[in-house]
Amino acid sequence: MDLGVKGKTALVMGASSGLGKATAEALAREGCNLIIAARSEATLEEVAADLAGRYGVTVEAFALDLADAAGVDRACGLADRPGGIDILVANSGGPPPSGALGVPEATWRSQFEQMVLAIIRIMDALVPPMRDRGWGRVVAIASSGVVQPIPTLAISNTLRASLMLYCKTLAAEVAGDGVTVNMVLPGRIKTARTDRLDAAAAERTGQSVDAIQAAAGAAIPVGRYGRPEEFGAVCAFLASARASYVTGSTIAVDGGAVRGI
Ligand SMILES: NC(=O)c1ccc[n+]([C@@H]2O[C@H](COP(=O)([O-])OP(=O)(O)OC[C@H]3O[C@@H](n4cnc5c(N)ncnc54)[C@H](OP(=O)(O)O)[C@@H]3O)[C@@H](O)[C@H]2O)c1
Repeated sequence: MDLGVKGKTALVMGASSGLGKATAEALAREGCNLIIAARSEATLEEVAADLAGRYGVTVEAFALDLADAAGVDRACGLADRPGGIDILVANSGGPPPSGALGVPEATWRSQFEQMVLAIIRIMDALVPPMRDRGWGRVVAIASSGVVQPIPTLAISNTLRASLMLYCKTLAAEVAGDGVTVNMVLPGRIKTARTDRLDAAAAERTGQSVDAIQAAAGAAIPVGRYGRPEEFGAVCAFLASARASYVTGSTIAVDGGAVRGI
C-alpha cells in the first residue's frame, strides 16, 4: 500500500532510539522528509545520515531536550519553517520507575513539564498551521499503562493519561480541518528503554535479566516482546494519507497484552 506521504515533512521526536527511530524509518521508507529530535545530537546525526542514505529523503537532526523550555520554544518555532510540518510524531523519554506513593513533588513537576507540558506546547504550535493547510497528522506515543496501569510505572501511567485526554480533545477540535490526532499504546516493545526497565527489575527481584524477559514475554499472548519495526509500521499508517478517517483513536500495539477491550 502506498501510504501517500511522499514529500511530506515529519517531525519525529525521540527518534534517536527505539520506537521513535523505528517510526522515523517507516516514514522515510515512504519517501517522507524528516526532522528527527532527541537530546544526543551525535546519535541523531548518525541516524540522519543512515536514513537519508538508505531512503533518499532529507533528514535533519534537531537537538532537543524536552526538559529545557528554551529548546521547546525552538521546536515550536518549526511551525514557521517554509513548507511547515505535516506530521508530528509526539514522543518523549520515559520516566523513572516507581509506585504511586513516595514520589517527590519535584519529580512529578519535572516529569509533567517534559512528558506533558512540552508536548502540549509543541502541538499547540504545530497544529494550527496544519489546519490552515487543510492536512496534518499527529501521532502521540503513550503506553498501554494508561488503560492497564503498570504497577512499577506510576508516573508514566498518570501523566500519559492526561496527555491522552488532551489528544482526544484536540482530535475533535481539528477533525473538520483535515488534521487527525491519534494515540498509540506500546505494550512491551524491545528497546533500550525496556532493557533498562528489565535490568532494574532484575536488580529489584534478584532474578536474571533473561529470566525477567522470558517471564514477561510469556505473559504476552503473542508470546514475545514486540519489535520496534512492528510498532513503527502502525505509527506510519496513522500518519498516512490512507488513515484520513481515523482520528481520536487509541491503538494498542501490544501483542494482545491488554486483556480489556
Ligand atoms: N518500548 C516500550 O515497550 C514502551 C512501552 C510503553 C511506553 N513506552 C514509552 O515510549 C517512549 C519511547 O520509548 P522507547 O522504548 O523508544 O525508549 P528509548 O529507546 O529509550 O528512546 C527514547 C527516545 O527519547 C529520547 N529522549 C529521552 N529523553 C528525552 C528528553 N528529555 N528530551 C528529548 N528527547 C528525549 C531519547 O534520546 P536522547 O536520550 O538522546 O534524548 C530517545 O531517542 C518512552 O516514553 C517510553 O516510556 C515504551
